[in-house]
Order: sequence, then structure tokens, then C-alpha cells
Amino acid sequence: MQKRFAHENFPPEIQAKADRMNLEESQVPAYTLPAILPAGVQNGIDFQTRARPFLLGLLEKYLYGVVPPHCQEFRCELTAEQRDAFAGLATRREFTLHCRQNGLHRALNLLVYLPNQVSRPAAVFLGLNFAGNAACSTDPDVIYQKPDFYPSLGTIRYADSRATEAQRGTQASRWEFEQVLKRGYAAATMCYYDVYPDRPDGFENSIMRLFYQPQEWSSPERNSGAISAWAWGISRAIDCLQTQPEIDSRRIIVHGHSRLGKTALWAGANDQRIALTVSNCSGTCGAKLAKRIYGENYEWILAWNPHWLRGDFSRWSGRENEIPVDQHQLLALVAPRLLYIASASEDVYADPKGEFLAAQAASEAYALFGSAGLEAAEQPAPGQLSCGDIGYYLRRGEHAVTPENWQALLEYCDRKLG
Ligand code: GCU
Repeated sequence: MQKRFAHENFPPEIQAKADRMNLEESQVPAYTLPAILPAGVQNGIDFQTRARPFLLGLLEKYLYGVVPPHCQEFRCELTAEQRDAFAGLATRREFTLHCRQNGLHRALNLLVYLPNQVSRPAAVFLGLNFAGNAACSTDPDVIYQKPDFYPSLGTIRYADSRATEAQRGTQASRWEFEQVLKRGYAAATMCYYDVYPDRPDGFENSIMRLFYQPQEWSSPERNSGAISAWAWGISRAIDCLQTQPEIDSRRIIVHGHSRLGKTALWAGANDQRIALTVSNCSGTCGAKLAKRIYGENYEWILAWNPHWLRGDFSRWSGRENEIPVDQHQLLALVAPRLLYIASASEDVYADPKGEFLAAQAASEAYALFGSAGLEAAEQPAPGQLSCGDIGYYLRRGEHAVTPENWQALLEYCDRKLG
């Protein structure tokens, strides 16, 4: 049967773009990836001193633009603490991260759970969320942050701009906080809308307002985008987590799903405090190779989300084979730290095979550090965890994060970070 990516809400011009996506493996044209490393890079020291800046520069120049520097003033304010959350399993702390630059202020709201029954500082899972901290947890006491700019995603609707009780925990199965805490890990999350509202007009209420003038941001030459803003937010959350004695700063895990999987990878590439970077169904401009023409293409990303990438990224629409960079180079930037790529078998749009092949290609960077990188020689069958320094897991099913994803990821973390 011919596969088709279609939705009843797509206007005809959007459906026409969707119909231009290739979803047939037999139709993937031959392609050549750019060399992953600059010439002459032979060992880990060369990688850190020459390949890292080179690769970061390429990805900044062609895709994501730059992640802003730290802000002039930064303060973590503890706004709430409860020592017996989840019936005593965890301590919950909520922080407001005050970011000030050029006389402007933005506040980010970070929710943190620390496991109570542990004998040493805990590794922490940090991820941005789609619908506000309260939606991630069944815990009745999580604070609703000012939700004015929060998204109305599917069932998560904010009546009169206020979250209601009915929305609490609606995304909890994506976070599995109690499982994570029972296994001895800490967990932290912050809504990506706090950092940059995910809309083409999100700039005014974003942290980018601290660093750019409106005319710079609306210019076609804009040298950054929302994915870089979100990556910046992850680094500020890490700044706060590092102040918590119950957290082991050497075992910070950053994870994300879909557009936030793309973000987790860009954060992992930039911030070397991250010990393990996890992307789930990150697809195009995430783990998937762009030059392998299968699934979502640049044209489609740009149709919906021109604000995600730098202003002049649009010139590469339909030109995946000409852009002088590909996503194996993004994954390589995580080396020699741990990387874990999760895909879903029915998520054809994100191209699971293209994600696996990028991870395979990125192993060349791990080899400079004496690591095999990805251990699986072939894409593993659904349900088979591959546990190299680049981990890989294919879940049977659709574009989602499920309890099965957590089981596999926790097993990987126990083995590699335990
Ligand atoms: C859109 C986008 C994808 C993205 C996905 C998501 O469909 O085109 O690239 O991964 O949203 O974030 O759910």
C-alpha cells in the first residue's frame, strides 16, 4: 500500500508539500555524507581542539544559529519544597530561574524531584516539556506557572488562560516520575514555552528578547532560532541543578521528544556538562540524516516552523543534498560522552532508519576515543536495546514517548551510568 502523510486539517498547499515527501524505501536516491571530521583529526585531543569548534561552527552557520551566552545576572529562587512528595518517595523543589540581561528579565520555572531513599547524590533526568510542569506530574501540589503563553496542545487546553485540575498529569506517562525516582534517579523539567513560545511570533515573550532587538530577530539574516533558545534554557536548568547537593553533576542526563529531541541533541552538542544525551523520535534536524531523502524534509519543517532554525535556513528548502552539513555531525559533537537514540517503527516521518544510520556514522568520532560508539552493526529489531556508548532503541509503534521507552532507557542508564 502506498504510504501517505495526510491530515484532515492540512490546507491543500500543505498537503501538497506532504505529498512531496518520500515514504518509500526503494525510492531513496543515492547520497553522499560530508566527511564527519575535518582532515587530519586523529585522536581525542584533535577532536576537542579542532573538530568540536569546526562542527559547532557548521551547525550554527547552516542550521541552528548560535546559542546565546550566559546572561549578565542569574539567580535560582526556591519557591516551594515538599519533602514527602509521592507518599515519601521524593522531595519536590520548585525553582524560579531569574535571567537578567540588558535591563530585561525573564523567569523560567523548574520542577525538580529528588529521590529520598538513596545513599549518594543521584543522576538526574532533565527534559523540557510541552504543556507546563503540572501536566507532567500526577503530584497534586505542583505549582501552575503563569500559563498565559502556554500551548493548547490537543487535550491540554487552558480555560481562561488558567490550567484546571483536569489538566494535571495529562502528560505524566511521558515522564514516569515515580518509576524514575524508585530507580534512584532525580528528575527535572521546565516548559519550553517559558524559554521560547513555540510560534513564529514567539520572540517577544522569549529569552531571545534579552539578547536580540526585534528588528534583528525578524531579519532574514537572523543568526539563531527557537531550538537554540531551548538549548540555552536547558543549560540554565543545569546551572540550577548543579547547586543541589543531592544531585550528581557528573551524571546529568538530558532527554527530549520530537522537536524537543532535536533540542536535546543541540544542547548535548553545546553543553559538555551533559553526561548522556537522549533523543526520542527527533527526526529531521534531529538525529535523522537529511541527505537520505525519506520522511520529513526541510520544506516541511519550514512550512510549519520557520522560527526553529536560523533565518536563512530557508534557502536550503529542497536542497538537502547541497547543504554542507548533516546530522551525523551533530551526533558526533556529543562524543565521547554517552548518546542514546530512540526511534519508533511507525514514525516513518522521522525516518527511524535514517536516525540509526546517523548514529552509525557518528561512531567515527567515538573511535577517536577508543570507543565503538554504536555497537549494533544492523538496526536492532523493535524491543532490542543496543547498549554501546551510543545506545539505540527502536520501539514498535507511533511517534510518542511511552512507559516502554522509559524501561529501556532506565536499563541503559543503570548499565552505563549506574
Ligand atoms: C512537527 C515537525 C517535526 C517534529 C514534530 C514534533 O510535526 O514537523 O519535525 O518532530 O512536529 O515536535 O512533534
